[in-house]
Amino acid sequence: MQNLKEAPIGVFDSGVGGLTVAREIMRQIPQERIVYFGDTARVPYGSKSTDTLIRYTRQIIRFLKTRGVKAIVVACNTASAVALEAVRDELDIPIIGVVRPGAKVAAEATRNKRIGIIGTETTVNSGMYVKLIQEHLPEAEVIGKACPLFVPLVEEGWTKDPVTEEVARRYLADLQKSDIDTLILGCTHYPLLRHMVGDIMGEQVTLVNPAYETALELRALLEREGIANDGENKNFENPYEFFVSDLAEKFKTFASSILPCDVTSIKKINIEEY
Ligand code: DGL
Repeated sequence: MQNLKEAPIGVFDSGVGGLTVAREIMRQIPQERIVYFGDTARVPYGSKSTDTLIRYTRQIIRFLKTRGVKAIVVACNTASAVALEAVRDELDIPIIGVVRPGAKVAAEATRNKRIGIIGTETTVNSGMYVKLIQEHLPEAEVIGKACPLFVPLVEEGWTKDPVTEEVARRYLADLQKSDIDTLILGCTHYPLLRHMVGDIMGEQVTLVNPAYETALELRALLEREGIANDGENKNFENPYEFFVSDLAEKFKTFASSILPCDVTSIKKINIEEY
């Protein structure tokens, strides 16, 4: 069992967004190793079909398993919403996504039972957040809004730019009038716009970052399964390894700007081979 306890956690996303989830895992369970895969060649996932996203997810899981991971985190709202349930039973290791933890915390946070969700087109149209919120709170009203331009704006680094603020004001205008008291940042890029979204929505609206809750659920899951690392990850030369399907340099710049660690090991792989 010792070897399994020391095995890394596989974390994946369509690109850099899932690094906000990896960042929470690093903060909440710093003794765990991580193998991160960013599908930078095939981003964005937010406009892809369910069938395509299930195929991508299966390939990435096959790749992560070659790295000996003991559990997998789907650090992408879009893949969590439409592909996770399709692959869960095919796996012999635990897998969690970000939608279920985000839905749970939003259902617990709301006082007036009116919850907003912003995310990609695929995430919002999937209805998965609505379904999972209503499992906890059947009478909840959930108002969704797709904000597709947020992903390229964040990747451009324009998180404090007036152009992004103008876009955000347009996207959020209906939600501002909808009397929600809780808003889920239902895309992994959006926590990087947290301050801007918070300023626009006002302090009466609680912002939910599913990444935080996902890291806590992951910790509980590893303990429950008896596979939590009880040592330190410092014995390993590279506790955090990063793989991408395209353009490692751009990924490195972004990762270095948001992660609390040095991003030294980034390798490009051909994901279509898996
Ligand atoms: N990371 C994806 C998510 O959380 C958004 C980016 C994309 O469209 O690929 O939904």
